[in-house]
Amino acid sequence: MAQGVTIAGTGSYLPEKILTNDDLSKFVETSDEWIVSRTGIKERRIADEEESTSHLGSKAAQKALQQAGMAAEDLDLIIVATITPDTLTPATACYVQQQLGATKAVAFDISAACSGFLYAMKIAKRMIESDAFKNALIIGAEKLSAFVNWEDRTTCILFGDGAGAAVLRASEQGEGRILATDIGTDGKQTHLLNIPGGGSACPITMDNAGEGLATLAMLGKEVFKHAVTRMKNSANLVIERAGLQPDDIAVVIPHQANLRIIDAIASRLAVPNDRVFVNLHKYGNTSAAAIAIALDEANREGKMKRGDKIVMVAFGAGLTWAAAAIEW
Ligand SMILES: CC(C)(COP(=O)(O)OP(=O)(O)OC[C@H]1O[C@@H](n2cnc3c(N)ncnc32)[C@H](O)[C@@H]1OP(=O)(O)O)[C@@H](O)C(=O)NCCC(=O)NCCS
Repeated sequence: MAQGVTIAGTGSYLPEKILTNDDLSKFVETSDEWIVSRTGIKERRIADEEESTSHLGSKAAQKALQQAGMAAEDLDLIIVATITPDTLTPATACYVQQQLGATKAVAFDISAACSGFLYAMKIAKRMIESDAFKNALIIGAEKLSAFVNWEDRTTCILFGDGAGAAVLRASEQGEGRILATDIGTDGKQTHLLNIPGGGSACPITMDNAGEGLATLAMLGKEVFKHAVTRMKNSANLVIERAGLQPDDIAVVIPHQANLRIIDAIASRLAVPNDRVFVNLHKYGNTSAAAIAIALDEANREGKMKRGDKIVMVAFGAGLTWAAAAIEW
């Protein structure tokens, strides 16, 4: 059994097109002031029409592979976490496998919304620990702009497109490792945040095609309350499992949904704000991609050094939550 699993490389990719709050206020009744004060978001990225989730994911993956010094042919596992797959079937991970030329890799998707990247991390860690797989690529990738109702100001201001990736493998002596993980689900709350149409429960037909059913629907206030409690509990659990104290944590990487949620988590975890990584002002909520992008940016900005303890924590539709404590 592998002695530990390390993050050997990270990468991210954001589409070039920027949609600012002022741009949004031209087609829905909102303002930069309202969006910034309620969410902290200033702008988000929007993928081109021909760019799908797999393209975003593959670009992030190439950077992660490069940093890990690994070739795509060396991968034996690819997990894509997404709620905006290229197609309902096959899995987005299959398109990524093709685009990367990762011919030896088993590839599949998981759907755990904004917690998806940390779900993927836990699954890949276990699969590497079992010795059945050596080199895993986990990706959080979303083209949420394709599933947003651009006439609904209560949701369209929140979301953006992007992708992040990490290469995982057994850790060698002196390298960092994933110390503890937690994942959880509360299926009683499926109604709080979902895309109601487009699945088998409510197929899109000629009759309902104009109703916008295949777009995100949300009860924002309820989601907010659950997010704070679940993320606090999950983060505390991995901190405890890893044998850490809040003071030991160099960087917290929370899900990037709302600055008020992030501030509430930081104060409940008793971690100073300057140790909490935030980039949601630039990208909005990119669901499964958010933590993956933030991890890569924190890494490339040199926020973590070898041996630092990091906590990542997420929350999303399902409801789902997840956390991981890592020694860098
Ligand atoms: C969505 C969210 C920002 C709304 O903030 P809020 O403080 O709860 O705001 P409310 O929904 O109570 O709306 C307050 C008022 O602003 C209005 N409003 C809503 N969206 C608006 C917008 N984009 N621009 C201007 N006004 C808006 C509402 O209509 C409401 O008006 P009213 O008082 O006349 O009825 C907030 O609830 C939130 O972030 N929730 C969590 C969502 C989330 O993170 N989801 C993803 C989880 S992974």
